Amino acid sequence: MPPTDRPRRALVTGASSGIGAATVRRLRADGWDVVATARRADRLEALAAETGAVPVVADVTKDDDVAALAEHVLATGGLDALVNNAGGALGLDPVADADLEQWRTMYELNVLGTLRVTQALLPTLRERGGDVLVLTSTAALDPYVGGAGYTGVKAAEQMLATTLRWELAGEPVRVIQVAPGAVATEEFSLVRFGGDAERAAAVYQGYEPLVADDVADVIAFALGRPPHVNVDLLVVRPRAQVNNWTTARRD
Ligand SMILES: NC(=O)c1ccc[n+]([C@@H]2O[C@H](COP(=O)([O-])OP(=O)(O)OC[C@H]3O[C@@H](n4cnc5c(N)ncnc54)[C@H](OP(=O)(O)O)[C@@H]3O)[C@@H](O)[C@H]2O)c1
Repeated sequence: MPPTDRPRRALVTGASSGIGAATVRRLRADGWDVVATARRADRLEALAAETGAVPVVADVTKDDDVAALAEHVLATGGLDALVNNAGGALGLDPVADADLEQWRTMYELNVLGTLRVTQALLPTLRERGGDVLVLTSTAALDPYVGGAGYTGVKAAEQMLATTLRWELAGEPVRVIQVAPGAVATEEFSLVRFGGDAERAAAVYQGYEPLVADDVADVIAFALGRPPHVNVDLLVVRPRAQVNNWTTARRD
């Protein structure tokens, strides 16, 4: 929320690649103090050396990791904005054949991970005022064939964000949802398709997808609004992708 005389401080989850890393870079460039978290220490260290963000290794699916992360944040200056970005998709299988373990992992990471981190940091945000931003997806807004596992978890995150906003009515906490369409990040589709680089690359062929900086830009915009303005839901898509199942490709 609004600047006092000190820099605002953000925690960005999933900061070791893609949208999270771009958001760390953007917020640092905008003058924020940033705590960057993910599981891969080497990537966080490189990002920290580049940007001056503070790296903290944590797995958002683990209670102890998130408790230690919250403890670190509280002990080192508290928080003005939590960017819940860690997440992802696994598989593109029809419901009839969907892999239970992949669905379980998606729920653990996207839904319960976001809940766990939000619960851990919410007390300090309620106390001094601050923002909870949840990175969902256009997958939260509409189904698509093969997408039920991922659309389900992103829709659950959307419900979490909206419900939390309503429950905090009158308190100095903004709850913001950013829902991007296709973003060509280096790992999202690679992870989704189990390391199949050709299949991952095909997702972004024949049109101009969003890039991570495009999403970092709208995150910075939403967090930068004056305190009486709450960006409830910001949907951002590639121009060519008019909905979850129609992308105008060149060939
Ligand atoms: N790319 C898209 O098309 C797109 C579109 C709409 C929404 N989104 C959403 O945007 C967010 C970021 O996507 P992206 O494209 O930047 O994906 P990405 O490049 O695959 O990054 C995912 C991040 O999440 C972290 N992560 C994964 N599992 C974790 C765990 N258990 N604990 C902590 N961190 C974990 C990863 O780091 P470590 O592996 O180091 O932990 C990585 O930093 C996700 O929530 C995704 O669902 C993506």
